[in-house]
Amino acid sequence: MSTLRRLPETTVNRIAAGEVIERPASAVKELVENSLDAGAGRIEIVLREGGRSLISVDDDGHGMSADDLSLAIERHATSKLPDDDLMDIRHLGFRGEALPSIGAVARLRIDSRRQDADTGWAIQVDGGRLSAPEPSSRARGTRVEVRDLFFATPARLKFLKTDRAEFGATLDMIKRLAMAHPEVGFTLKDDQRTAFQAGAEQGELLDARAARLARVMGREFVENALPVEADRDGIRLTGLAGVPTYNRGNATQQYMFVNGRPVRDKLFTGAVRGAYQDFLSGGRHAVLVLFLEVDPAFVDVNVHPAKAEVRLREPGVVRGLIVGGLRSVLAAAGHRASTTVAGQALGAFRAGTQPETPRFSMPLRGGGGGSYMPRQDSAAAREAFAAWQSPEGGLSGVAESAVREFIDPSGRVETQAADAPAPSADFPLGVARGQVHGTYIVAQTMDGIVLVDQHAAHERLVYERMKRQLDENGVARQGLLLPEVVEMEETDADRIAARADELASLGLILERFGPGAIVVRETPALLGQCDIRGLLNDLADELAEFDQATGLKDRLQDVCSTMACHGSVRAGRRLNAEEMNALLREMERTPHSGQCNHGRPTYVELHLNDIERLFGRR
Ligand SMILES: Nc1ncnc2c1ncn2[C@@H]1O[C@H](COP(=O)(O)OP(=O)(O)OP(=O)(O)O)[C@@H](O)[C@H]1O
Ligand SMILES: [Mg+2]
Repeated sequence: MSTLRRLPETTVNRIAAGEVIERPASAVKELVENSLDAGAGRIEIVLREGGRSLISVDDDGHGMSADDLSLAIERHATSKLPDDDLMDIRHLGFRGEALPSIGAVARLRIDSRRQDADTGWAIQVDGGRLSAPEPSSRARGTRVEVRDLFFATPARLKFLKTDRAEFGATLDMIKRLAMAHPEVGFTLKDDQRTAFQAGAEQGELLDARAARLARVMGREFVENALPVEADRDGIRLTGLAGVPTYNRGNATQQYMFVNGRPVRDKLFTGAVRGAYQDFLSGGRHAVLVLFLEVDPAFVDVNVHPAKAEVRLREPGVVRGLIVGGLRSVLAAAGHRASTTVAGQALGAFRAGTQPETPRFSMPLRGGGGGSYMPRQDSAAAREAFAAWQSPEGGLSGVAESAVREFIDPSGRVETQAADAPAPSADFPLGVARGQVHGTYIVAQTMDGIVLVDQHAAHERLVYERMKRQLDENGVARQGLLLPEVVEMEETDADRIAARADELASLGLILERFGPGAIVVRETPALLGQCDIRGLLNDLADELAEFDQATGLKDRLQDVCSTMACHGSVRAGRRLNAEEMNALLREMERTPHSGQCNHGRPTYVELHLNDIERLFGRR
C-alpha cells in the first residue's frame, strides 16, 4: 500500500500560512495592504498583547458584498489580477493568500459593507473552519479581527518575542506603509495608548510626502535632507536623502519603496553605500527614504513570501539611477552641512557656560546703565571691558592685549586685513575675521558667524581636486630635492612596492630600497610639503586591508583620502587673511565640502538669532 497521500486542506493551508504569516507584524502588513488596495482614506489598527490575543484593522475602503466575503477567505481568490497577468501587478496584493492564511492559524472575523449595499455582512473562520455570511451592523468599509493568532499552530507561537518586541515590529511596519501612502490617515493603538497617529496629508504628492516623512521620521530629518528626483529609461526615483553629516551608526534609517511597496534589498543598500562612500567613513550610514516608480512589467514582486523583496528586470539601470541621482543632489548641496551640527554646538556652548563658574556677571536689566562687569580680578581685563563699553570704542594697548589673551592664551590672534571685503550674499561662508588657536577660522556672514576647521576643510578640498585631476589628465607630481627613504616592516614594504605602478598614476613615485625600506622620489603636487613617512605608513595599513585582487582604482576614494589627509593644512598652521578667504571661497565652489572625508563637518554656522539666544537676548 502506498504511504503517499494528499494532505488535508487545513494542513495545506497551515503550511502555506507558515510562509506568509510569520508574526503579528506580518498579519498586520497583509491586512493594512488590503485596506490600501480597497482605497481606504483612514486605517485604524489595534493590537492587544503585541497582537497575540487581538489584531484589528478597520478601514473606510470600498468594502465587500456577502459573496465577496465567502470568496475572500478561499485560497487563491483575488479581485486584483483581472487579466491573470503576473507581469501587470497594480495592487499590493495579487495572490489571494493572505486572508485564508490568517484564517488557517487564528480566529478570523470580517465585517464589511459595500458602499452601494443596504446592509453589511460578516463572516468567521476559526482555525480553518468557515461559517456562512450573516448580516452585520457595519456602516461602511471593512473591519478585520484576528484573535488568538497561531492558536492552531502552537510551534509558531513559541517563536514569538515579548509583546513589546512584537508591537515594536508592527509599529515599524506601519511607519513604512505610512511613508509610502501620505494621503491615507493611520492610527496604531494598543490597550492603553495611541502609539502612532498620522492624519491624511493634504496637497500635492511631494508636499504631502514631506509632511508625512516629517511626522514619521522627525522634522530634523526633513530639515537635513535633500530632495531627490531622477529619471532614466522610464524609471523614476524620488525621495529625501539626508546630508552626509546627518548620519547614523547603522543602516536601519534607510527606507526604500518600489511602486509604493516597502522593500529591503541588497541592490538598494549597496547603491546607497556607493553613492555616499565618498563622504562617510566605513561605520557610518546615510539616512534616507527613496521611492522608485517602475512599469509593473519591469519588476517581479512574486519572489518573497512576505513580498519584502522584489526582483528588477534591469538592476544595473536602477543601481546607476540611484547612485547617479544621489551623487548629483549631494554635489548640488555643495558645502551644506547638517543643521544639527549647529544645534550640537549651541548645546555645547550652553553646557560650557554653567552658572556655577560665570566668567562675567549678567547684566542688570532695568537697573539703569546695567553693565557687563568682569568678575575676574584682572586689572587688564577690567580695562578691556571698560574700553568695550566706552562709546568712543577702540581698545587701549593694554586692553587689546587682554582681549588677545582671552581669545588665544598664546597671545596670538590673526586679525583681518584692512581691505577685507564686507560680508555679502555672494559669500555664504562669510568673510574671514580671524584665526584662533591656529586651527579654526572665524568668518562673518550676512546674518551670523561661521567657524571652519581648517584642517578638515582643506583635506576635503585637496581630495576633491585630486579626484578632478585624476579624471582629467592624471595627477601632477613634484620631484623631491632629496629622495626620502622610509624604513618600515618588510611585509609593509612588500605591499607598497607591489602597488608602485598604481601609486605612480596617483602621483606617488617610489621604489623598493633594500629589504625594509622604500625610497620616495616624487609626490602629488597637490599635497605640497607632506609628511611622507606618515603617508607611507597609512598607505601600508590601508593596502593590508585590500585583497590582492582589488585594484587601487577601485579603492581610489580611500587612497586619495589618505593622501589628502597628509597633504592638508595641518591644525596649527597660521593662515593670513588672504589664505583664509581663499579657503572659504574654494569651499563654496567645491562640491561636498561641508564634510571631511570621514563624514565630520568642516564648519559650523551660528545665526545671529542663535547667538542672541545664547546671551538671553531673545
Ligand atoms: N479591507 C478590504 N476591503 C475590501 N476588500 C478586501 C479587503 N481585504 C480583502 N479584500 C478582498 O479580499 C480578497 C482577498 O484578500 P487577500 O489579502 O487574501 O488576497 P489579495 O489581497 O488579493 O492577495 P495577497 O494574498 O497577495 O494579499 C482581495 O482580493 C479583496 O478583493
Ligand atoms: Mg491581500
